[in-house]
Amino acid sequence: MTFSEQLAHYTAQVEDALDALLPPATARPTRLHEAMRYAVLGGGKRLRPTLCLAAAELFEPTKLRRGGDDTAPSETACAPAPPAAAFGAAVSIECLHCYSLVHDDLPCMDDDDLRRGRPTTHRAFDEATALLAGDALLTHAFALLAEHYADSPALAHALTRELAHAAGSRRLIGGQMEDLLAEKKQGTENAVTAETLDFIHLNKTAAMIEAALVMGGLVGGADGPQCETLRTVGRHLGLGFQIVDDILDATADTATLGKTAGKDARAEKTTYVSLYGIDAAQARAEEETQRALAALATLPGDTRFLADLTRSLTDRKK
Ligand code: IPE
Ligand code: IPE
Ligand code: MG
Ligand code: MG
Ligand code: MG
Repeated sequence: MTFSEQLAHYTAQVEDALDALLPPATARPTRLHEAMRYAVLGGGKRLRPTLCLAAAELFEPTKLRRGGDDTAPSETACAPAPPAAAFGAAVSIECLHCYSLVHDDLPCMDDDDLRRGRPTTHRAFDEATALLAGDALLTHAFALLAEHYADSPALAHALTRELAHAAGSRRLIGGQMEDLLAEKKQGTENAVTAETLDFIHLNKTAAMIEAALVMGGLVGGADGPQCETLRTVGRHLGLGFQIVDDILDATADTATLGKTAGKDARAEKTTYVSLYGIDAAQARAEEETQRALAALATLPGDTRFLADLTRSLTDRKK
């Protein structure tokens, strides 16, 4: 299997799990459940759930599925088959991510009309419904962990703690807060520093990418030091990912991106592009990718898919 076939396979498995683990659109109130499903099932790269599944698989020996030949090149490997238990964590992370996108797009935040090539949730429904759908997705993420891992209380606890910390006021939400506070500051006496920009990116974006990998590791049975290595991979991968998001905002077109291009400059956001320029931002993204790859190489199991995925994110088109 090639890398793109493997990726497509993971994505298809994630799509099925999302569909199955979200409340049905027919549940009352239908408008709310339709909005939740609209926000989650409308495309997206599914990076975080894929990282979670692939990380879990590192610690679940897959020799049998690969014909017992660990040295076979990835082209000949069979379809990845993550442990079934990892799907609860993977869907939980994507629900949380989608909630963060719904709220990020609201008029009081980034005020975006387009997401994943379609009208944003508040455009397709209305602002109050989008707000509530986001709230409900956030809660659903934790309900899923409680229910899916009910038979493994220690695992449920570790996963809940990991996700709650990543999504909380010191990380995802803290990053979003400082992102907003950093608007329209460049060129003023309160210009944002490199330290603040790193804080924003490490928290609004890298936190959830770290959590995706660590949660996969927890489900797969990774020990403490291995979880910390996964966190290091996520930290560098996540920082590189947001730098590339900033570059794409400045260089790609809306149709390719599936979200409005050029928004950061118009909103006078502080980004790697506004602070350092495109070339330096790209160099920094590549540096972070190399750091992620170096940490990944120290983990057990077949890390080839995760390494290919990490490399693919630096020159992605959306
Ligand atoms: C968008 O995340 C928000 C950022 C953290 C940059 P993605 O680029 O992963 O968005 P989707 O899930 O593929 O739509
Ligand atoms: C948002 O960063 C990260 C989130 C936590 C949602 P951006 O505001 O740059 O993400 P996009 O470009 O709208 O996807
Ligand atoms: Mg934003
Ligand atoms: Mg935004
Ligand atoms: Mg962006």
